[in-house]
Amino acid sequence: MAGASSGGNSAYPSFSSRIAFIIVTAGSAVGLGNVWGFPYVAGQNGGGGFVLIYLLALAFVAAPAFMAELMLGRMGKASPPNALGRLQAKAGSRLHWPLVGWTGLVGTILVLSFYAVIAGQAMDYAIEAAKGGFAGWSDHEVQALDADFKSSMPMMALWSAIFMGLTALIVSFDINTGLEKAGKVMMPALLMILLGMVIYSGNTGDFGAAVDFLFGFHKMDVTPRLFLEAVGQAFFTLGVGVGGIMTYGSYMGSNVNLPRATLWIVAMDLFVALAAGLAIFPLVFSSGVSAAAGPGLVFLTLPLIFADIPGGAVVAFAFFLLLTFAAVTSSISLLSPTVARLEEAGWSRRKGAVLMASLAVIISLLTAYSFAGGKHVFPLAALGLDGMTFFDLIREGVSNFILPLSGLAYALMVGWALSREEVRKALPMEDGLMFRLWHGVIRYVAPICITALFIGAVAG
Ligand code: TRP
Repeated sequence: MAGASSGGNSAYPSFSSRIAFIIVTAGSAVGLGNVWGFPYVAGQNGGGGFVLIYLLALAFVAAPAFMAELMLGRMGKASPPNALGRLQAKAGSRLHWPLVGWTGLVGTILVLSFYAVIAGQAMDYAIEAAKGGFAGWSDHEVQALDADFKSSMPMMALWSAIFMGLTALIVSFDINTGLEKAGKVMMPALLMILLGMVIYSGNTGDFGAAVDFLFGFHKMDVTPRLFLEAVGQAFFTLGVGVGGIMTYGSYMGSNVNLPRATLWIVAMDLFVALAAGLAIFPLVFSSGVSAAAGPGLVFLTLPLIFADIPGGAVVAFAFFLLLTFAAVTSSISLLSPTVARLEEAGWSRRKGAVLMASLAVIISLLTAYSFAGGKHVFPLAALGLDGMTFFDLIREGVSNFILPLSGLAYALMVGWALSREEVRKALPMEDGLMFRLWHGVIRYVAPICITALFIGAVAG
């Protein structure tokens, strides 16, 4: 079997410390999903009620699955397809586990393909901000900046290539010099900028309105679709379901307490999402624009706000730098699984990283096209998916299908195929209430919720 080439586990790479593992893996979780995605998804879905469902989805579905994925990685100590192949043998299962690993690898490149375009726009805006910010810009100018970016295929392709080049550069080094250094520099910087922004917003904007919006209860329609959105967002934000977490898990030392590390990472991810909301919404409410602006919240609404607040240029630069850092620490986790698999096939990290990053850039042209000339091209309209561009299909296909279905597969592997004792020792956890709770969730709650969700989505 191909995985055997990495079988001499003493040489298998590992993060240099517990804290390094937590920072780098939290970096994978904290990304565009938190800073760009969460505020607009919460905004579109009415705030408080959505946030509550999102919290439940995190706690009872996505976080337990995250823990399962980490554990599978540490037990399998290889790239996702080979790690799962080993564990299949161990469990004596006749199902083809590596298939879930391969699907995940496809998922990583698909996520990267749209991630790169959005991160590219963030980088472009950071430069725009550095050139003097958006000070005094009119509504019209801000819209033109966004429209210019989104209508120019060469511009988007260029930024996507720059972003993926940076990602490939970091991933081409060994684990400790590449991933780990990047996390140790960018994550603390990101947290500092974010805290600074929350304080600034709290002082300049309408903090009370933001808190009420995010945590207050407002009348809303509770539909199956809303649950699907919440679960999709929960999976996406933790980055569960494509093998990125499994790959980082394979680099996790056996001395790291896996359940406790999971708690830290999930807490950090949640903190960043809520803090991003508290950095953005006070400004949104005090300027009187709509909180439900959708995906344009960050690239249309915010620059307009930065245009006429004191110190707007500095705030704007800090914000888009924050977005860029968040994106890079996530994209390196998305490039790592395929590179790990190619390494097992004898490739150097550099060659693997360049090849897979190039592939992501090529596929990113589909997203670029969806923003530009293909804005009204709906490839699956005949299948009833009218109104969905390539970008919508890729993004929703990954978030609403690949991620939850892989999550379901991980839950079944860990909850049913591997023995309870084996799993308990691998974590390791004492045979107490916490373990029983988690194991029950992995065995029953998560699989039932995910299945129910699909039935609801298909029926609804
Ligand atoms: N979690 C990251 C974010 O919130 C993105 C991400 C990293 C991701 N790894 C992933 C999304 C794996 C889906 C699958 O932006």
